[in-house]
Amino acid sequence: MKVLMICFSQSGNTRKVAEYIQEGIQQRASSCEIVDLSDVDTGVLSQYDLVGLGCPTFYYREPFNVREFMEGLPDLKGRSWFVFCSHGSVMGETLISMAECLEQQGIVVIGSHHTYADGTIPFYPYPTVTTGHPDDQELQEARDFGKEIAECAQAVAGGDTGRIAKPASLTDDFVPAEIEMLSREFMDQVFRVLSVNEDTCIECGECMDACPVDGIDVEAAPRRIQDPCVYCWYCAKVCPTGSIVTDWTAFDQMAPDNYAKYIKALNAAEARGEFRWLMDPATLKFDDPLHKQLERRVNEGAKETTV
Ligand SMILES: Cc1cc2nc3c(=O)[nH]c(=O)nc-3n(C[C@H](O)[C@H](O)[C@H](O)COP(=O)(O)O)c2cc1C
Repeated sequence: MKVLMICFSQSGNTRKVAEYIQEGIQQRASSCEIVDLSDVDTGVLSQYDLVGLGCPTFYYREPFNVREFMEGLPDLKGRSWFVFCSHGSVMGETLISMAECLEQQGIVVIGSHHTYADGTIPFYPYPTVTTGHPDDQELQEARDFGKEIAECAQAVAGGDTGRIAKPASLTDDFVPAEIEMLSREFMDQVFRVLSVNEDTCIECGECMDACPVDGIDVEAAPRRIQDPCVYCWYCAKVCPTGSIVTDWTAFDQMAPDNYAKYIKALNAAEARGEFRWLMDPATLKFDDPLHKQLERRVNEGAKETTV
C-alpha cells in the first residue's frame, strides 16, 4: 500500500504529528511520504492507495489555503483519504469541515485525528494554555492512529467499510456563533488592515518567507500585502522592525473573554479525558501585542477621564 501525507504546518506542530502518524503507517504500508501542501502535484494523487491531509486549526476551521487546495482537487472520486489537525484550545469544526469538503467531491474520508498542540497565535500571550503539547502520550496516540488508519484503508480496499469513522463533532457551545462570524468574507472585510510601513521596512524579506501563500512583496513599489491572505499574522510576528502594521481593533471585544472560554473548554476536555493540563493557567502573562493594546486603551481612557 502506497500512502501520501500532505501537510500544511506553519510552525511545525502539525508536521511533527504527521511524522508520528507516518511512523505508525510505515508499520503497515510499503511506503508513506510526507509532502508540504505548497509542493503537492495534484496530478499524481490518484496513484496513492491512501492520502492524508493535515493542517493547523485557524479560527476554528482549516486555514483558507487548505480549503482552497481541497476545492481545487482533480476528480478523485472513490479514493480513500484521512484528515488530521493540530490545534490549541478549541478545534471547532476543523475536521468536520475538511471531511465535508472532500466528501462533496466524492472522496471517501475513512478516518481523522486531532492533537492538542502549542498555541501559536501571534497576537496572543506566550507561553499559552496548550504549551507543552503534544506530549509523549499524544505523539504515541498519533503513531497508533497511523497503524489504525493504514489497517482501515486495507480493510476498505478489501470491501470492508465497517471501520470507517466520522470525524469528532463539536462539543463547545460557544464555537458555532464565532465560526459563523469568522468566515472568509468577514475576514476580508474587517481584517484587511495589514500594511507595510515604508519608512521602517528594511526589505529583509522575512515576512515574504513566512507567508504561507506568497502574498507579500516588499520589493514592489509600493510594498504590498495582497490576496490571498489567510490571516495567520505571521508576517507581523517575524518582522524584525515591526513594520507590518496591524490594527487589532477587530479582536478587541473578544480577546480577554476568549481566554476564559479557552480555559473552560480545556477543563471540559479534561473532564472528558481528552486533555491534560501541562501548565497552570493562572501563570499566563498577557504581554502580547493585542493585550498590550487593550491595556493602553484602558490606561488612556483612565487618563482622559481624570484630566
Ligand atoms: C491565525 C491562527 C489562528 C488560530 N486559531 C485557532 C483556533 O481557532 N483554535 C485553536 O484551537 N487553535 C488555533 N490556533 C493555534 C494553532 O491551531 C496551533 O498552534 C497549531 O498547532 C499550529 O500548527 P502548526 O505548528 O502546524 O502551524 C491558531 C493559530 C493561528 C496562527
